[in-house]
Amino acid sequence: MFPGLLLPLLIAHAAFCAEPSVSRSLRAANSGLFTIGVGIHDRIPERPADWPLLIAQFSSITPENCLKPDPVQIAEAKFNFTRSDAFIDFANSNGLQVIGHCLVWAKDDRTPPWFFRDGTNTASRNLLLARMKTHIDTVAGRYRGRIAMWDVVNEALDDGTNFLRPSGWSLACGEDFIVRAFELAHAADPGALLIYNDYNNELPAKRAKLIRLVRSLRERNAPVHAIGLQGHYEIDRLPLAEIEATLGAMRELRMKVVVSELDIDVVPRGKWWADGGKHRAELAKLDPYRDGCPPEILRRQADQYAQLFRLFRKYSDVIARVSFWNLHDGQSWLNTFPWRRVNHPLLFDREGKPKPAFHAVIAELQKPSDQAQRPAN
Ligand code: GLA
Repeated sequence: MFPGLLLPLLIAHAAFCAEPSVSRSLRAANSGLFTIGVGIHDRIPERPADWPLLIAQFSSITPENCLKPDPVQIAEAKFNFTRSDAFIDFANSNGLQVIGHCLVWAKDDRTPPWFFRDGTNTASRNLLLARMKTHIDTVAGRYRGRIAMWDVVNEALDDGTNFLRPSGWSLACGEDFIVRAFELAHAADPGALLIYNDYNNELPAKRAKLIRLVRSLRERNAPVHAIGLQGHYEIDRLPLAEIEATLGAMRELRMKVVVSELDIDVVPRGKWWADGGKHRAELAKLDPYRDGCPPEILRRQADQYAQLFRLFRKYSDVIARVSFWNLHDGQSWLNTFPWRRVNHPLLFDREGKPKPAFHAVIAELQKPSDQAQRPAN
């Protein structure tokens, strides 16, 4: 165990055992339904103030950035593992499962540009796949046996009319780069659960592409073990029926699901991308909850988290893990993306105190299980 961890752990224990009749911990309340995790700051080993909440509540952690292609291999063969080594040591020595995120991010602005270049020319398919092999062998190989699950490919499906998002990867290799990434990850770390991760893949058009991708990867014997639904939702716009349709489709395909980056934005951002971006100037001024989130909004958010977790329970035979994206409201990416505002999307407030949403989720997790909902295996 990390030196200095004992005191924060004792504080965590005292804080969350104050009411003995109610479990105050997500990890204890879920009683084997699925793992509950969190995407967390890369520098968690240096942030002892965050340890009590983290360790009391969550059993797996995803580093927010330090395992992405850009920080790991900013230039060819120039690997940097300083942050990720410390992160994984911290997790392993505290009994927290690690989720690796991500080996290939199929977006050009999220892939270091050198990957796609060969001098002044565009890199050939063979060169690109050779670079992918070096990257995956080096990164997944380094942590073999220490990372429970890997997001192998992130965000490859197109939001528009194409099947795959046009990118340096898909333009050079078509779907082959996805197949190859899974083969390489499996060879580098045969014990890791391998995930295809994306956003909005519960919505009908992208769901159809997801199903097509799963079928195709299976036909080609690519070792894909689970689908990641990122789960970045917005208050009052939860696509519950669509999420259920995707969970049902994955159940039929006998494919596991992880909910990989869950949050419920209370200052919805969807309009940012609508109508050619013409609402952006107006939205950028919007910061309605900078002095605190009104109780009415917190209650609605709690109800909506409860609805989500009711659904997740119903599909707990399919869902292997639910991870929140960030530890508490003060650390959420939604305070700055896509514009700066004070956001309140998570279960814990800026002081790490449980919000109504926390209690609603705990209540759902603790309801007696309804086996009738589950199909016989
Ligand atoms: C996507 C990525 C994550 C993270 C979030 C925002 O969902 O998969 O790694 O960058 O955006 O923080």
